[in-house]
Amino acid sequence: MKIILTGIQPSGTLHLGNYFGAMQPAIELQDQGQAVYFIADYHALTSVTKADDLRRFTFDVAAGFLACGLDSHRTILFRQSDVPEVVELAWLLSVVTPMGLLERAHSYKDKIAQGAETSHGLFAYPVLMAADILLYNSDLVPVGKDQKQHLEITRDVAQKFNDRFGPVFKLPEPLIREATAILPGIDGRKMSKSYGNTISLFGEEKEIKKPIMAIKTDSTPIEQPKQIEGTVLGQLMQAVNPAAYKDFVALAATPGTGYGELKKKLLAEIETRFRPFQEKYRHYVSHPGEVEAILRDGAERARTIARPVLEKARHATGLSR
Ligand code: ADP
Ligand code: TRP
Repeated sequence: MKIILTGIQPSGTLHLGNYFGAMQPAIELQDQGQAVYFIADYHALTSVTKADDLRRFTFDVAAGFLACGLDSHRTILFRQSDVPEVVELAWLLSVVTPMGLLERAHSYKDKIAQGAETSHGLFAYPVLMAADILLYNSDLVPVGKDQKQHLEITRDVAQKFNDRFGPVFKLPEPLIREATAILPGIDGRKMSKSYGNTISLFGEEKEIKKPIMAIKTDSTPIEQPKQIEGTVLGQLMQAVNPAAYKDFVALAATPGTGYGELKKKLLAEIETRFRPFQEKYRHYVSHPGEVEAILRDGAERARTIARPVLEKARHATGLSR
């Protein structure tokens, strides 16, 4: 059975962009093979600086995935740092990783350009990611387009290791989500926590209503028809309820329909679609022990895959006899 592996960083509160861009596609892939999904908390340490935030975001991703339909019996869900073997493997890989490969990494260069403080962790981020992927013998790695280069680095590093020490690692194939549209935030830019333009996935009604009512619209007067195809309002509706999209466009084009009414309709659709997930999420919030038990069990299962791979790598390098 093919191993499908992906990681999601616990670096903020989940929003609709995360759901449509990463969580829903991962959940859909669960029955295509053995899914191995983890919460990349070691990686998040490159940006999250408060311990309580890291714990909260980590819980949020785990509970969020479970609430949205991740099946923890079938899928292995775990916290990256519960299998610290990955850090040892990252070191073994780092000795075959050319500096130039990391210096050319877009994500590193982008972060520096945005004024992030440089750190060895940020620089070595792709090596840890390669270790995540190679430690679990992954066949397929579903990721967004922004992670494409990290997959290329992973394959390069695996090949270099195999060339130097013998055939240890399987070369993974990326599964790039080309088709997933970038969900816009309420200001029209990509929905992203760094832009403060998100609609929360599990927020209370007020928290969801406020950004929706603040969605940027033009000043077409109420009595004139509105063209909402391609606008933020239109794109969000299309993602949330594709079946209702045509009627929504028609309603907007009906003279007398105001943007306020359209926003309320979108809000209602979001509530209908995500209410069952929110109820499950709240269940986990009041039973955090259940989430913890699932993560621990996931880590145990992940370890049974990881240990022999690490041992093989240690043996190939001469670290173990
Ligand atoms: P943010 O931009 O809020 O920091 P992340 O970079 O942590 O979000 O994204 C986590 C995952 O969610 C990634 O796989 C990313 O591709 C996906 N994602 C985030 N925002 C969007 C969006 N607006 N549209 C589609 N996918 C998104
Ligand atoms: N870097 C990925 C992101 O920011 C998260 C991640 C960490 C990951 N390790 C991984 C994704 C391994 C796929 C495989 O989205």
